[in-house]
Amino acid sequence: MYQVKRQPDLEKNYQLMSYMAKRVLDDTSDIVAALANLSAVINGYMDGINWVGFYTMKNGELVLGPFQGLPACINIQVGKGVCGTAIAQGKTQLVEDVSKFPGHIACDSASRSEIVIPIYKNSEPFGVLDVDSPLLNRFGELESKYLSEICTLLEKYLTA
Ligand code: SME
Repeated sequence: MYQVKRQPDLEKNYQLMSYMAKRVLDDTSDIVAALANLSAVINGYMDGINWVGFYTMKNGELVLGPFQGLPACINIQVGKGVCGTAIAQGKTQLVEDVSKFPGHIACDSASRSEIVIPIYKNSEPFGVLDVDSPLLNRFGELESKYLSEICTLLEKYLTA
């Protein structure tokens, strides 16, 4: 039904990832199904990652949502770790080396770099998209651009 066909050209590959993200969102009104398929789409199109998934806000803290990768910590307080910092600051966290990020929460000891993007529903924090890599400095401007695009699609989906 959904075929992941990676492209040799990196930008074309990410454009296709974004296109498929839109398709999986168009195909369901169920939030768990949507987040599960989005994490699978990102995992399918991105090289060099060991964890991708969502945390969503519940009772004032982040709670583990659908993801691909090893089992991860379940609750993260706002302001803690990379995820909680993204929510507290309302800003994408692009961490080149997680060992240099004070308070980084190591769910998978293989992780070396990380990107976390906050997601909003009607201007209220909804949660975060978190992607981890076993490579240092894995995430740059291009990754930030296309992962943010997916989060924007998700924000539109959440408010539709
Ligand atoms: N490293 C994150 C925790 C989540 S795991 O990476 C899946 C953090 O510091 O918030």
